[in-house]
Parts: sequence; C-alpha cells; structure tokens
Amino acid sequence: MKNAFVKNILCIGAGYVGGPTMAMIAYKCPRYKVTVVDINHERIAQWNSDRLPVYEPGLGEIIGAVRGRNLFFDTDIDRCIKEASIIFVAVNTPTKVFGAGAGMAADLQYWEKTARQIREAADSPKIVIEKCTIPVKTALAMERILTSQEGSVSFDVISNPEFLAEGTAMRDLEFPDRVLIGSRETDRGIRARREIVDIYANWVPRERIIESNIWSSELSKLVANAFLAQRISSINAVSALCEKTDADVQEVARAIGLDSRLGSKFLNASVGFGGSCFKKDILNLVYLCRSYGLSEVADYWESVVKINEYQKDRFVLAMLSAMFNTLAGKKIALFGFAFKADTGDTRETPALYVAKSIVEERAGLVITDPQALRNAMADLEGVDNITYEIDPYKAAAGCDAIALMTEWKLYTGLDYERIYASMTKPAFIFDGRNILDRTRLFEIGFNVFSIGKTPLVHV
Ligand code: NAD
Ligand code: UGA
Repeated sequence: MKNAFVKNILCIGAGYVGGPTMAMIAYKCPRYKVTVVDINHERIAQWNSDRLPVYEPGLGEIIGAVRGRNLFFDTDIDRCIKEASIIFVAVNTPTKVFGAGAGMAADLQYWEKTARQIREAADSPKIVIEKCTIPVKTALAMERILTSQEGSVSFDVISNPEFLAEGTAMRDLEFPDRVLIGSRETDRGIRARREIVDIYANWVPRERIIESNIWSSELSKLVANAFLAQRISSINAVSALCEKTDADVQEVARAIGLDSRLGSKFLNASVGFGGSCFKKDILNLVYLCRSYGLSEVADYWESVVKINEYQKDRFVLAMLSAMFNTLAGKKIALFGFAFKADTGDTRETPALYVAKSIVEERAGLVITDPQALRNAMADLEGVDNITYEIDPYKAAAGCDAIALMTEWKLYTGLDYERIYASMTKPAFIFDGRNILDRTRLFEIGFNVFSIGKTPLVHV
C-alpha cells in the first residue's frame, strides 16, 4: 500500500529543539510524515539508536512510539528537501566569535547555509519556517536568498519561534502556554501561516495559537528570553542586598511573588542563569538596539548580563572569603554541573565558571552530576586537578567544601550526616540554588552559605 501521509514535514537541525519538537509533531499528527536531518551524521546515528543525543524526561518514550512509524532521522538533506512541502529550520545560531559584532551579534552562517541549500535542492513550492532564534528582520534576508535565483520555485517564510525550556521540553511542547506563528500579512503569507496553524491545532487549543506579523513574531522570541533573564538578574541583584542586610531573598521573593501583577515564577535567586540561549539572545538584542542607534535601550538590556556575571563572581569570592581567603591545596566538590536540573546540557553553565575559578585558586575539584559528567569532561578538557565522580557520597569524601551548582532533586535527599562525617573539618556548604535545609545542615556541623541569606557559621 502506498503511504497515506497527508503532509511531508522536514526539520533541518537535529539538536535540542529539532529532535524533541519534531518528535512531538509526529506523535500528535500520525498522518504526517516527519523527517529530521542534520549535517552531523553521528548525531543522526544517535537519534536512530537507543542512546539519544539529548537527555530530556519523557523524550525516550515518545521517540520509541513514533520512530520508524512517522518520524525518521536522515542524512540525505537534499532528497529530504525535495520530498517535503514544509521545512522547519532549527539549526544553531550561536553568538558570533569573529569579525563585526563578535561577542554580541548572532552568527547566522549555519542558518544562511541552510537557506541556500533549500534554494538549490527545492523543485517544488515550500513553506520555510524559522524555528531557530534569530534577529528581527532575518526573514527578509531569508526571503532574499530563497528568491535570488532565476525561475526559482516559490517560497513562503514563516516565523514560529520555540519557547520550550530544557528539562521540561516534552511538557512544554505538549501543553504550550502559546504557540506563536508570524507571517507576511499578504493573502499568500496568511495562507502559509494557516498551514502551520493547522499542524499545531492537532493538539494545541486554538486560543493558544497566536498569529502575528512576522517581525513581531521574530522579536517576541528575543524579548521573551530577555524578560525571563531580567527577572533572574533582578532577584539575584536583590540577593546581594539581602546578604548585607539580614533579609532573606526567598522571603522577599515570596512576598513580591504573591502580587498577582508580578507572579511567583522565575524568582529563584541562584549562582546565575546559564543555558545556551539567555546570554546569547540578550546580547543579540543589545547588538540590534545599538545597530538601530538605541544605545540607552541596549545598555538597559546589557545590564541583565552584567548582573549575571557579577553573581557568578560573587559566588566564588564568597567561597574564598568564607574559607579563610585561600583555597590552595583544599578539595572542593561541585554538586551538579548541568546549567539546570533534568538536563545533561552544560552550555553556559555557571558551574563552568565556578570550576575554572576554583582550579585557578589551586584547589582540587571533584565534579558530580547525574547526567552531565560527559559534557563536563569535554568542557574542562585539559584542565588539571579535576576528578569526575557519579556518586555524590564519594565525591564529597575528603573535601573541605561542597558547592551546589544544579538543583537536582537528588541532592535534597542525601544523608548529609554521612557526608559531613566523611569530610575535612571545618566543613562548608555553599548552596548556589537555595534547595538544601540549611538549619539542619548547620545543626549537623556544616558552615552554611546560601544565596541571599545570612550565613550560618560555627565560631
Ligand atoms: P543545537 O546546537 O542543539 O542543534 C543545532 C543542530 O543544527 C546541530 O545538530 C547542527 O549540527 C545542526 N546544523 C547546523 N548547521 C546545519 C546545516 N547547515 N544543515 C543541517 N544541520 C545543521 O541547537 P539547539 O539548542 O537545538 O538550538 C537551535 C535553535 O533553537 C537556536 O537558534 C536556539 O537559540 C533556539 N532555541 C533553543 C532552545 C533550547 O532549549 N536549546 C529553546 C528555544 C529555542
Ligand atoms: C529558556 C526559556 O525558559 C525558554 O522559554 C526558551 O525557549 C529557552 O530559554 C531558549 O530560548 O533556549 P532554558 O534555558 O532551557 O529555557 O531553561 P530555563 O528554565 O529558562 O533556565 C535558564 C537558567 O536560568 C538556568 O540556569 C536556571 O537554573 C536559571 N534560573 C531559572 C534561575 O536561576 N532562577 C529561576 O528562577 C529560574
């Protein structure tokens, strides 16, 4: 029997976004054929194996249900472009590290190569969807590239930014707060937009699918990340003041978060935000503002990143000062290396800055994390004086201090009496996430330092 698929969807880029997003579309739309391609053949092989390249709760089950049914991972990009009528682009858009805008602007080389490849391979009309996060007005450049060839087939460019967070990606994809779809406001643009609305309408309530003009859609993604990161920098800035004034940052967060205008989410003071996107997207926004001559606006958003750097630095300096102004020859355990819980991703993790700073102070380091040790080893390749240990009890044994970097639930349930007994005294805990029971730890004998709280120190 000839296959009965009603739509042929392709995603270019099989990363943290491409893989999970397409898995959800395939799962919810059994009559669509969904293919994911990547230039990285090893990654595609991993997606086709039992060892997926991305750790995400619930992802394995969904992949198990749809792979080979209507979800396929492939390396023949040109053939897949020809076969699809709808093409999502989910390639990486990191911060540029060379030339004009280095360290700020988005590096669009992967995205541009993809646009050119689509143009070269396509022999029938395509809807091309920006799934990756890009500067506002990128769709214009994409349209220019796609239509720059004589007699080329027709293309419609749509913006459909992704709002999933790692660690909760499958839930975010299944029950999104909203799906945003932007297009040109021409008849053709709106027709193309509706085709994408139809995909999501298979499982997302219609009132949660928002349509807008294409520039609003592109810009909303950068602004959403900037607002989220700004909340963290705001509470982290307040945490510094709390430490000077004996206020408790969690009590302050609770008090302000109950104001329904503010809301209670994203007010956890921490060692700083990490992840592949917040910093790069804010810097991208800052660069855009500067390029439009809006220097005050650019400075405003840049301060969000500055506070984040300050917070990481403050954390290390607090360790140094608490431990008698020297870490040399001491041994410190890092509990967690991932940038947040429930992921193995370590991109821009604050733990990397803390780890490197501790090693620079000539202390020995033991890193433990339930999912991120492989990435930690790669991130710290060539740095001496570090060991990696999956078991937190073994990691802490013989250490002078524990620095908790990631809010893995498992760290709240450990036997800290046993851990204390195995450590060098005086023993210190620096809780970079405010998840541990500090009163209990103090009673056990630890000197306890938490973000935005008065330290509990035995004289
Ligand atoms: P990633 O690095 O995990 O994956 C990108 C993939 O694209 C890589 O596997 C890479 O090999 C592939 N690729 C690059 N150039 C290619 C080409 N020319 N042809 C085929 N494949 C190519 O990145 P990611 O985390 O999935 O992010 C992708 C985009 O989505 C970024 O713009 C990011 O800002 C955005 N985003 C990420 C998240 C997240 O949580 N990670 C959430 C929302 C949005
Ligand atoms: C973030 C956004 O939440 C997503 O909506 C967005 O799609 C994504 O970026 C993206 O564009 O890549 P993510 O970075 O995966 O998702 O994770 P978050 O939950 O936002 O956490 C980011 C960082 O902030 C983590 O290091 C986390 O520990 C930290 N954080 C978060 C805090 O320090 N305090 C908080 O209250 C919340």
